[in-house]
Amino acid sequence: PGMSLMRHYLQFKDLRAEEYAYLFDRAASIKRRFKNYERYQPLQDRTLAMIFEKASTRTRVSFEAGMYQMGGSVVHLTTGDSQLGRAEPIEDSARVISRMVDLVMIRTYEQSKIERFAAHSRVPVINGLTNEYHPCQILADLFTFLEARGMDRRGAIDLDALKGRVVAWVGDGNNMANTWLQAAEILGFTVHVSTPSGYEIDPAVAGVKDAGCYRVFQDPHEACAGADLVTTDVWTSMGYEAENEARKAAFANWCVDSAMMARAKPDALFMHCLPAHRGEEVTAEVIDGPQSAVWDEAENRMHVQKALMEYLLLGRIG
Ligand code: CP
Ligand code: NVA
Repeated sequence: PGMSLMRHYLQFKDLRAEEYAYLFDRAASIKRRFKNYERYQPLQDRTLAMIFEKASTRTRVSFEAGMYQMGGSVVHLTTGDSQLGRAEPIEDSARVISRMVDLVMIRTYEQSKIERFAAHSRVPVINGLTNEYHPCQILADLFTFLEARGMDRRGAIDLDALKGRVVAWVGDGNNMANTWLQAAEILGFTVHVSTPSGYEIDPAVAGVKDAGCYRVFQDPHEACAGADLVTTDVWTSMGYEAENEARKAAFANWCVDSAMMARAKPDALFMHCLPAHRGEEVTAEVIDGPQSAVWDEAENRMHVQKALMEYLLLGRIG
């Protein structure tokens, strides 16, 4: 089933709400099997190529371990040790790599690059982070939120638990922020965004049509008021290192601290895609405190991506 139509996962809006409901359900089941040391290997003889043009810890480990756990194997490529760094056209790389593997994950700079790769690929392509989007991370963040706040009595995940929720985004209008907006539009919650001036979200880049899926706040404390989830990210994303000093000055008041968390709902969670810089975008008290979900969030990358890979390769199971 599902084999006829090839799907890519290049941005969050590539899947529909009912597909997310399915994926979260699968992720919960795949995670349970992993926790019980149950063998589950539907991807035997399948190969994932992982292409990294930027550094990674979580994305690499979660895709690589996840693929092996499902019985498959991986090929790891970086710009420096492949022809990608020597100006072989991305279209040619796509044609060649996709003839030898079953699935490709790419972490790169411009979204247009992953789109060009996908346009010339014979196999599904997954976005492992671009300048514009980080859909696998938001997949994990939403699953983590739903595990904590959206499980029914039988342990089934209820996607409707996201409806009407408020997610506070404090910091840069970056790939994570754009992806949160797409998720809000599809799944029916609201993002309260507060960025320093000059670092705002561009709704055209985020690619959202419904202006009601987010609200902009000058004051990050105001953005956190009544939030169900407070989340942030590094002040300087990969590829923007030259702006580091200017950003440090501009972002000084956009540090998630206990005062901000106190404005959110009492049971609000804190998330951060990691790596984190304690004392910059978040205090140690918050990220290492009782409301922080960051370690479950990181682990869940693996479980949701296993569900995603299974879906792209095998379609719906059962
Ligand atoms: N959150 C995330 O994508 O981490 P890595 O950069 O370590 O992959
Ligand atoms: N916004 C960050 C996320 C890192 C996982 C970056 O792009 O570097």
